[in-house]
Amino acid sequence: MNKQNTKESGCISITAPSNIAIVKYWGKKEIQLPVNPSISFTLKNALTKTQVFYKHNTSQNKVSFQFLFNETPNKVFEKKLITFFDRIEHMVPWIKHYHFDIHSTNTFPHSSGIASSASSYAALALFIKELHKIVTGTIMYDKDCSNIARIGSGSASRSIYGGWNTWGKSESYPESNDNYAININNTIHPNFNNIIDSILIVSNTSKKVSSTVGHQLMENHPYKEGRIHQANENTAKLAETLSQGDWNTFIEICELEALSLHGLMMSSTPSYTLLEPNSLAIIQKIREFREETGLQLGFTIDAGPNIHVLYPSLNKIEIQEFINSQLKPLCHKQTVIHDEIGEGPQIM
Ligand code: PMV
Repeated sequence: MNKQNTKESGCISITAPSNIAIVKYWGKKEIQLPVNPSISFTLKNALTKTQVFYKHNTSQNKVSFQFLFNETPNKVFEKKLITFFDRIEHMVPWIKHYHFDIHSTNTFPHSSGIASSASSYAALALFIKELHKIVTGTIMYDKDCSNIARIGSGSASRSIYGGWNTWGKSESYPESNDNYAININNTIHPNFNNIIDSILIVSNTSKKVSSTVGHQLMENHPYKEGRIHQANENTAKLAETLSQGDWNTFIEICELEALSLHGLMMSSTPSYTLLEPNSLAIIQKIREFREETGLQLGFTIDAGPNIHVLYPSLNKIEIQEFINSQLKPLCHKQTVIHDEIGEGPQIM
């Protein structure tokens, strides 16, 4: 943080990472509360960098701001931010007397299958936490910061911490809560501390159906109750697996969750598919390679066609050789983004 920052004006820069869920949040209730618990790990290289110039203005009674993405106004996100600031005002009432000039960039390409809303809202929530300290002289709890991020985008609640995180009430984690995410690094076996995520870009076109619509379609989904039950069971199983260090069960849960998410999309009304023929070809090849070699690698998929290949860094050489020779040719412009578990956001 800049030494010259005062209550009156200043500039705060935050770098916040995206995350990838293993147990997926799919379906919401009320304002952005999850219908089921989720578990994710935070990425290292997929980051949103947000710089905010702030200015105090006593004559103003509503937060005002300008938002630039890559130095260009983004009307769609600006509209979402108006709602976001409205919804969090009661938590940080001082905010209404401020003007923000927000400059944001991502280190990863648009529509790459990496959730930019997670890193963007995590960065904004952390900025608010920093300014809260300057304005009120008190330190905001992490859970309140995660709650603010959650109000922007559910998955963002998990991006304010590094490593492994869970959001949504579950029996496996007594401290867990629907309003905010908690860090679970102290429950994780070292086998899951060095996990690599190689993201295979099957297509870089924008999603035909947004996650917002996907969540809505869960409201009257015929498998809604079954899904909630399944997600709770998978959370319990994953919690145990992560603490015991068992990669084989981890892969089973990962793939089941990924394909269940896409199965729910295919069985929504209206139904839709986000997977591409090459997504399925890649899945097939991963499973064959695992069968042949006995190596520990599996996949997960977010709400899009791109495949995240997950494996321990121990097997990096063999698995990246396989990715380069067998999977890369099935990717859009042979694009693969190598990422890994990361340590979380940074405040400059
Ligand atoms: O946070 P949202 O509203 O973008 O939804 C994210 C949903 C998934 O990425 C599919 C799963 C998850 O838990 O991150």
